[in-house]
Amino acid sequence: MEERVEKVREFAGLTDEEAAILSSFSSLPMDTADRMIENVAGCMPLPIGIAVNFIINGRDVLVPMAIEEPSVVAAASNAAKLARRTGGFVAKAEPPIMIGQIQVIGIKEEEFGEKAAAVEAAKKELLAEANACDPVLVGIGGGARDLEIREVRTPGGRMMVIHLLVDVRDAMGANAVNTMCERLAPKIEAITGGRVVLRIISNLATKRLVTASVRYAKEDLGGEEVVDRIVAAYMLAAGDPYRAATHNKGIMNGIDAVVIATGNDWRAVEAGAHAYASLGGRYTSLTRWWKNDDGDLEGSIQLPLAVGIVGGATKTHPVARVCLKILGVKTAGELAEVIASVGLAQNFAALRALATEGIQRGHMELHARNVAIAAGASGELVEKVAARMVKERAIRIDVAKKILEEMKRHAE
Ligand code: MEV
Repeated sequence: MEERVEKVREFAGLTDEEAAILSSFSSLPMDTADRMIENVAGCMPLPIGIAVNFIINGRDVLVPMAIEEPSVVAAASNAAKLARRTGGFVAKAEPPIMIGQIQVIGIKEEEFGEKAAAVEAAKKELLAEANACDPVLVGIGGGARDLEIREVRTPGGRMMVIHLLVDVRDAMGANAVNTMCERLAPKIEAITGGRVVLRIISNLATKRLVTASVRYAKEDLGGEEVVDRIVAAYMLAAGDPYRAATHNKGIMNGIDAVVIATGNDWRAVEAGAHAYASLGGRYTSLTRWWKNDDGDLEGSIQLPLAVGIVGGATKTHPVARVCLKILGVKTAGELAEVIASVGLAQNFAALRALATEGIQRGHMELHARNVAIAAGASGELVEKVAARMVKERAIRIDVAKKILEEMKRHAE
């Protein structure tokens, strides 16, 4: 582990203090934790693994991933290694525009058009009012950009929903957007004669999409037959929500791990991803895979990614700060580009394993250590018990207990 930290330190130019934060297993100070949430009684540490081999937009990136599941970091690193041969991942984030929703009820159906026109006419004034709440954001080039007026059918009747579009720059954006929506509510009520109920960000951040793509040469995958099998595996996710849920879960293994390592809100990212996967009316895959004219495998991913590099835990959590430095991203968009690429890599790794030998062998080998620990092994016995189970192709707790007893008996 020391060697790994040293390599990361050199690569990312970490200070001694930052390297110490990364390698410590208690890096969140008690008073910081106590200010983060309420009724703090402890802390839930997760391991951070460094995914290697990633080239994203021509840049070498080391990716810190916070996750409890074995084999995710290895799979991402492996997928990135193969992708290096064709130049790695190409990714592009749209400008960081978040949507805030202002729900207006009590507008008569026949008056809807007239009220919508009145809001439209007051747009300039409303945007100026929204921007008055956040001179700092405006000062760095962000701020409220536009209003969209929607008529939404609900089980409780038709409602007017005004979308406030805000460029949140390098923040996740919830605070800025929610503040602006709350500030606009009285003016919207005055203009429409309706009553405003909700004033809140939408996690379906369709104006803040990120796309990543990759190509794998057929020779690197073991031939065109493997390409065909991977595409067939993808097709099931494209056509069947039961498979799409698992397929997307695998993508989120990678995405969430980076989102968490950087102190971002992974519930927001999850909500946005799954809502986006259902936007066509049926839940489907977040990625696409196809065979190109040369018989190679190509894939892409598109999803909304509301992540920031300023504000919230990204700045207050010392480990998140170090992880952001390791990633070397200068903007929230660049962070989103890395995260989307990791999601695509993770999906490729899962599909490749599933379409060929299945995932259990690799997965269980990595899981064997956990099973050994659960059976009571500690110290060097963990590796020994795990290795024996792998050799005997029986990675189970009862087997681990038996091997452990045997080893302990021998040692006596
Ligand atoms: C396991 O955490 C994720 C996979 O199930 C994803 C997939 O099936 O594509 C392996």
